[in-house]
Order: sequence, then C-alpha cells, then structure tokens
Amino acid sequence: MKVFVAGATGALGGALVPQLVARGHEVVGMTRTASKQDLVRSLGARPVVADALDPDAVAQAVASAEPEVIVHQLTALSEQMSARDMRHPERFRGAIMTNRLRTEATDHLLAAGRAVGARRFVAQSIAAFRFARTGGPVQTEADPLDPDPPAGLRTAQAAIVYLEQAVTTIEWGEGLALRYGGFYGPGTGISLAADAVIAAPIRKRWFPIVGDGDGVWSHVHIEDAAAATAVAVEHGRPGVYNIVDDEPAPVREWLPVLASVLGAKPPRRVPRWLGRLAAGETATVMMTDVRGASNAKAKRELGWQLQYPSWRQGFAQGLG
Ligand SMILES: NC(=O)c1ccc[n+]([C@@H]2O[C@H](COP(=O)([O-])OP(=O)(O)OC[C@H]3O[C@@H](n4cnc5c(N)ncnc54)[C@H](OP(=O)(O)O)[C@@H]3O)[C@@H](O)[C@H]2O)c1
Repeated sequence: MKVFVAGATGALGGALVPQLVARGHEVVGMTRTASKQDLVRSLGARPVVADALDPDAVAQAVASAEPEVIVHQLTALSEQMSARDMRHPERFRGAIMTNRLRTEATDHLLAAGRAVGARRFVAQSIAAFRFARTGGPVQTEADPLDPDPPAGLRTAQAAIVYLEQAVTTIEWGEGLALRYGGFYGPGTGISLAADAVIAAPIRKRWFPIVGDGDGVWSHVHIEDAAAATAVAVEHGRPGVYNIVDDEPAPVREWLPVLASVLGAKPPRRVPRWLGRLAAGETATVMMTDVRGASNAKAKRELGWQLQYPSWRQGFAQGLG
C-alpha cells in the first residue's frame, strides 16, 4: 500500500518507516526540516517537506503522495524540559506545540486525507497519565479517563481527547488512535544515550521514588510500538487501542531496575510532601497515583506480538 507518515523522523516514525518498507509498503515520509530528507531516504521512504501547521502545505504534501493510509506521528517533545517546566508542564514550549500538532495538524491531515480519498488514518495517542485515578491499577480502553487531571496535564488531556475523537469518528475511512505506553529503546527518552531525557536524570539520581511509588506506568519498547502501528496500518477496526507491554508496574518496582541497568545508584526516596514541594503536584501524581493500561484489545484485535513483553527484559536487552 501507499502509506504517508507524518513525523517520519521522530522516535516512533524512525522505527516505523523501515518496518513498513520491510512489509512491502511504499512510504512517503513527511518532515518539516529540509536537511532531514536524507534521513528519511535512509529509512527507505520518499521525503516530503511540509510544516504540519500549514494546511496548504499539508494538503499539497499528501496530494503528492496519493496515500491509501495516513499515519500521524507528530509531536514536539524532543526539547529538554527544565526544572521549572517540570513544575508546570502545561507551560513547556514542547507541550504547547504538541497540543497544536494534536489538534490543528490532526485537522489538516484529516482534511488532506479525505480530499485524496485515503481510506485509513492511524494516529499517535498516549496511554500514560490519562486514566481516572479510581479503580484498579490497570485500565482498559473502556475505562473512563481522568475527569479532573492535575493542572499540568489538563490541556494535554484535552488535546489528546480531541485527536482521538476526531480520528476515530471519520466517516470517509477507518480511524485508529494508538495509545502508546512510555517509549524506551534507541532514540527515546529511556535509552543508553548520554542525553536521553529520562535516563539522564536517573543517572544523576534526580529521579526519586516519591511517597510509596504507587503510580503505575505502562512501558513499551519503541520497536514493539512501531510493530503495532505497522499492523494497525493494515487492519483493525476503528477505535482506540492501548499499545503497552504486558506488565504495568508501580514506579517503586521498575525505577530501581532501570537505574541498575543504566549503571546508576538506586533512586532516592522522598516523602510525598517533599516531592510536591520540589517537583510540583503533577509530577507527584505521576509518581504516586496514575494507572497503567491493558494491552488485551490490541493483542486480540490487531494480532500484535511483542518482542519485549515486559520492561524487565526490555530494559536489560533493548535500550540501545
Ligand atoms: N509515548 C511516549 O513515551 C512518547 C511519545 C512521543 C514522544 N516521546 C518522547 O519524546 C522525545 C522526542 O520525540 P520524537 O523523537 O518523536 O521527536 P519530536 O521532536 O517530538 O518530533 C517528532 C516528529 O514530528 C515532526 N514534527 C514536529 N513538528 C512538526 C511540524 N510543525 N511540521 C512537520 N513535522 C513536525 C518532526 O519532524 P522533523 O523531521 O522536522 O524534526 C518529527 O518527525 C523522545 O524522547 C521520545 O521518546 C515519548
């Protein structure tokens, strides 16, 4: 099939394009950055340069590709968050831009897809930090989202809800939103790279276990996330799917294992009040009160198989 990937050079796009090519698809990869065209070529796709926030440029880029399937992997999260951003993630420039990519750019890509007669649309969503903070530690796609997210996550939650609704309700084709767990592996925030955005503070022991470390996180290796996306390009009913590994786990369990793999000393432990004082309410909720996600639907309906079913094995063998 002809597949158009917006965000072909990102963490997920960069893993996805080679997998699509290996499965026999003809891929056009969109970047905003002219100098990254060779990177797109090296992944096996034909590059096209467009700013996702420019509706005419997007329409032209998509029209030039005449895709049957459009994949939306646009985010703007590669910028490093400062300590002040941690306290107020809603003011982080990368988060504000990502919200625009999840709303405005989604609209532009959907309009372009409709205009060229595409029949399928697969978009990046997120499973982490979104579920209602009630009920069990592991939630499914049928469970409610947090009706009252901490202030730092409110605008992000609204943008993601917008994207999921816009994509999964299209009438001109089939729309799927993939709620990825936290990425780890090459090119992501958790990797062996010295500047990996989550790994770096763990190495410096700036990423403590807050309170009891009860917050449940769902992880997914970047190659597994790309594999789920490649399958979703080909089949699966419209709707949302959690793309996470088999073992959602509380911070107190996975963080010491990751620190050890990264060669760091064990994470410090700080009481909840100190976590709130130092890092703010949103970060504290992430460490103590969030829920994980179940991947049963994605396995059952997409037939997705994971190379790293647990972060235990993935952290040990798949970080880079
Ligand atoms: N679920 C998760 O855990 C999750 C999800 C997403 C990201 N992250 C993390 O966030 C960090 C950065 O993610 P990333 O590597 O995907 O990088 P990124 O900087 O967020 O960029 C992603 C893609 O979006 C494209 N893009 C951004 N703005 C655009 C615009 N206005 N027009 C056209 N294209 C645009 C970029 O194109 P260019 O080629 O122009 O750069 C790139 O291909 C990584 O550490 C990653 O692990 C985590």
